[in-house]
Amino acid sequence: PIVLVLNGPNLNLLGLREPHIYGRDTLAGIKAMVEAWGESFGLEVEFHQSNHEGELIDWIHAARGRAAGIIINAGAFTHTSIALMDALLASEVPAIEVHLSNIFQREAFRHHSYIALAAKGVICGLGVQGYLLALEAVKGLIGQDPP
Ligand code: DQA
Repeated sequence: PIVLVLNGPNLNLLGLREPHIYGRDTLAGIKAMVEAWGESFGLEVEFHQSNHEGELIDWIHAARGRAAGIIINAGAFTHTSIALMDALLASEVPAIEVHLSNIFQREAFRHHSYIALAAKGVICGLGVQGYLLALEAVKGLIGQDPP
């Protein structure tokens, strides 16, 4: 089974960007970990990052009927993008929302997520481990009837 792991704007700068908030791991490091974890769960990870909303939407559309799950850290688009929410709903692929930081401990504008309205579950504040837990959740959903 294929799992799409999507990362939104500014996450290409992980490792350099506000390491006190987002940690020291680079996106390349996270990609390697996520791919290895996916393999251990028998999942084929397709890992992407884009700073462009439309490119993320195109990947979500391409997942329809093809991917078992979408793990998405939409970065700041989380808090603004009705279009990403609609794309996830249209894809009919179960989505797990991930954030490295605990968005509820931060500014009020980060407390609302459009992605959450289209997600099966949300994991935040656990750093890179959130991606691992999301993979485990997708693994658990495979073969289950949608609720
Ligand atoms: C983030 C949280 C967002 O509020 C922020 O805009 C990001 C990263 C996280 O992983 O903690 O870019 O999604």
